[in-house]
Amino acid sequence: MKAIILIGGLGTRLRPLTCGTPKPLLPVLNKPFILYQIELLKKYGINEIVFCLAYLSEEFKRFFGTGKKYGIKIHYAIEKSPLGTGGAIRNAAKFIDSSALIMNGDVFSYVNLKDLVNFHKRNNAKATITLVKVPDPCHYGLVETASDGRIKRFLEKPSVDEITCDTINAGVYLFEPEIFDKIPGDTVYSVERGLFPKLLEEKSRFYAYIYSDYWIDIGTTEKYLKVHRDLMERFALKTPDKIGKGVEVNGRVITGKNVKIGSFTRISGFVCLGDNVRVGKGCSLSDCVVRNGSRISDNCDVKTALIGQGCVIENNVTINPGCAIGDGTVIRKYSKV
Ligand code: GDD
Ligand code: MG
Repeated sequence: MKAIILIGGLGTRLRPLTCGTPKPLLPVLNKPFILYQIELLKKYGINEIVFCLAYLSEEFKRFFGTGKKYGIKIHYAIEKSPLGTGGAIRNAAKFIDSSALIMNGDVFSYVNLKDLVNFHKRNNAKATITLVKVPDPCHYGLVETASDGRIKRFLEKPSVDEITCDTINAGVYLFEPEIFDKIPGDTVYSVERGLFPKLLEEKSRFYAYIYSDYWIDIGTTEKYLKVHRDLMERFALKTPDKIGKGVEVNGRVITGKNVKIGSFTRISGFVCLGDNVRVGKGCSLSDCVVRNGSRISDNCDVKTALIGQGCVIENNVTINPGCAIGDGTVIRKYSKV
């Protein structure tokens, strides 16, 4: 079976981090996010993957090439301009001749793909989507199902008064090849707003597979920080032994290669530092991600924030909760942002 990964979105809710790096290549615990998805696919024997690309497609090609280094074969389906989730899938149809697995490129999960395939076959389904329960369905595609697993209603980004259940589209689908023919070619089209309601109208065999383990869409700055926190906890990652003389750690920290942290710096909560990051003396870092090559000078205070690549944070700077600092930013001494 082949998989299709949708990775052509602009990642607007993760700007400025996505200005130079597409969302699926942003690191999570210092590893490009999409590699977690590829690991999941490989675990279930799926080694041939179609990448649906639009935004920053060259970055993916540069990183993956043919995919051989990662033990996969990649087909590139590149849109001239973004065609939406449906248009992107349609554009990948040329590589598909049997049932195909489709994934949003920004969801982390442990979906049992073998179970999903069996469920799909058992129901003789034409399309199956995976659902997960969340407390805030309005940010997702709300899905109502019948007791036999058939989908009754699909409503993308419902308003608060339209919420009737807590199950949402987890962004992991299984389509029979004929489903691809239902999507118009070469035009912007959304599976969520176009295809799924259409399948319901046509009374197609459209089913929901329920998943209940860890799931997250990393598409906002809050969620991107949260996935770091959750995975550090879940994998029980240990703070490296040689973290720096006189550094106080009260939580978890992971570091890339060649990281240096000055004395009297305090680290709390969940902190992830990329390769070649420098942190000065007397700083306080709490719940933050700092990408490769950034420098934080002495006596800085960084809380619940994201710092892009190659930034220079001069001494005595305060970075307040919710800040996302773009690649290459210089913040002058004593600034409060
Ligand atoms: N190739 C291509 N072209 N990919 C695209 C395009 C496009 O024009 N637009 C979006 N994508 C990709 C994104 O890169 C992302 O991986 C995926 O499609 C979903 O797009 P998002 O922009 O992240 O959508 P969302 O998070 O608001 O909602 C979607 O995901 C939710 C689950 O996380 C929907 O599928 C919801 O129904 C769902 O609940
Ligand atoms: Mg998303």
